[in-house]
Amino acid sequence: MAFKDMREFLASLDKAGQLKNVDVPLDCGEGTNELQALMRYLAEINGPGLMLKNLKGYNTPDVPVIFNPFGTRERTGMTIGTADPVEAKIKHARILNDRSTWHKPTMVERSKAPCKDVVIGKDDISVDKQLPHLWIGKEGASYITGGVVVTKDPETGVRNVGWYRLTQLWNCKHPQGGSYTEKEQKKQLSIFAFWNPPMNHIGLHLAKAQRMGKPLEIAVACQCDPAVHMAAATGVPYGLDEYEYAGGLRGSPVELVKCETVDLEVPATAEYVIEGVFQPDVPQQIIGWHSNSVGYYDKHQVFPLFDVSCITHRKNPLWYATIEMMPPFDHNYLALIPIEGEMLSDLQRKIPEVKDCVVTPNMTYIVQLNVDGAHKPHPEFGKYVLHALWGAAGRWPRTAKIAVVVGPDVNPYDLSAVEWAIQTRVQPYSDIIINRSGQAFVLDPSAPKGPQGFPMVGEQMGIDATIKIPERFSEYADVSQADPADVAKIAAKLKGVL
Ligand SMILES: Cc1cc2nc3c(=O)[nH]c(=O)nc-3n(C[C@H](O)[C@H](O)[C@H](O)COP(=O)(O)O)c2cc1C
Repeated sequence: MAFKDMREFLASLDKAGQLKNVDVPLDCGEGTNELQALMRYLAEINGPGLMLKNLKGYNTPDVPVIFNPFGTRERTGMTIGTADPVEAKIKHARILNDRSTWHKPTMVERSKAPCKDVVIGKDDISVDKQLPHLWIGKEGASYITGGVVVTKDPETGVRNVGWYRLTQLWNCKHPQGGSYTEKEQKKQLSIFAFWNPPMNHIGLHLAKAQRMGKPLEIAVACQCDPAVHMAAATGVPYGLDEYEYAGGLRGSPVELVKCETVDLEVPATAEYVIEGVFQPDVPQQIIGWHSNSVGYYDKHQVFPLFDVSCITHRKNPLWYATIEMMPPFDHNYLALIPIEGEMLSDLQRKIPEVKDCVVTPNMTYIVQLNVDGAHKPHPEFGKYVLHALWGAAGRWPRTAKIAVVVGPDVNPYDLSAVEWAIQTRVQPYSDIIINRSGQAFVLDPSAPKGPQGFPMVGEQMGIDATIKIPERFSEYADVSQADPADVAKIAAKLKGVL
């Protein structure tokens, strides 16, 4: 079943008892920390999605804020129609691999697009009043975190839709004691448009436009049908359209509408749409502090700025806020299930013995095989899989700092089981590969910084935790563990007693 918009998804969370309204006053002004504390608390209690309705220090009190809607693997799976996270990942990978299941988007009339309920033209833009601003942790800027971002390759016109964070400069604290101009604060926004090579796709578009001396148009569609968000968070190969993949995930085409001031298309049921243009000289600004997904503050980041040319929104719009901080945090799984799906679809195409791929919130990569011991196709097969993992498609697996390969009897979601496999099936010198010239994860503070000021090359560790038949043994001790079916029987027998 497909959600029409974010509202329908929230209604399904509500029905499942996974959404709560919060009228308790919470402070989200610059320099306060209540929302970061709330994010942490929700992670500790495996808490529900929230609708924050009484924020203090907030410039748009009539716009409720969705918080922690994706905070569990189950709720993240629900974005594409299943609360079973394994099923969600398999569906994600299967559809990514099979383009015959994708659906081309359809266009709807402007009058049928709720995102056009209110239209604010270029001359009236003042983002300080028209876009919600809230601060989390010690971040200097207020972020836009619910936007799927649309741009077109300036040469080929091929569209990209990616989920990237943007920052607003109104009332933003400058990390080096400087200040932001009135224009920057009220008429411009900036965006996280760079990453490790091979870069995010908006970064490729922007770099190309700059080389060609051309402006680059941008549209940011905030709070859409969550399947569109899942597709936008997926590394769909460059040149293919995430809207078509989203159509595959939702089982029917995404309905798009033309933008007002740029030649781009956005989901008709988005809550907000922000349109704009990067000028050919692409002005940049320093932002900071910036809280990152590995759980540290970057003292500053340099982001490109674009001019906002139009804002449209629905009647009674909703906003979404999240933060990256020490994992886990709300959108962790929305970032991770796509990486797992990308890896699974790529590895299974090449290696049929790959059963599952799991990436933990701290980004340890685990590959589960459907064979082990004597059934492995050849000696040192686990190491072959580790090299394939580092060579898998997309931006992320090449940066896997810790990777583990396990057999079919080890649940890759259970870190205690993975640790058990490492303890009982690994001899460190023989079964661990240390790669001293891997690609560093750009945010890893332990990797040496390159000339650009961030790490490019880092060390990696691949652990082959398969059973070492035939490498060292011809037989292996039997595992002493209860059969899950017997555990279920005992649980049934003792129901109401324990
Ligand atoms: C909430 C959220 C925020 C994200 N923010 C960024 C970001 O600021 N920059 C970035 O490069 N990737 C970010 N990602 C990951 C990208 O969405 C993901 O890598 C996606 O594949 C990018 O699309 P692209 O491959 O078309 O560039 C974010 C993911 C989520 C779920």
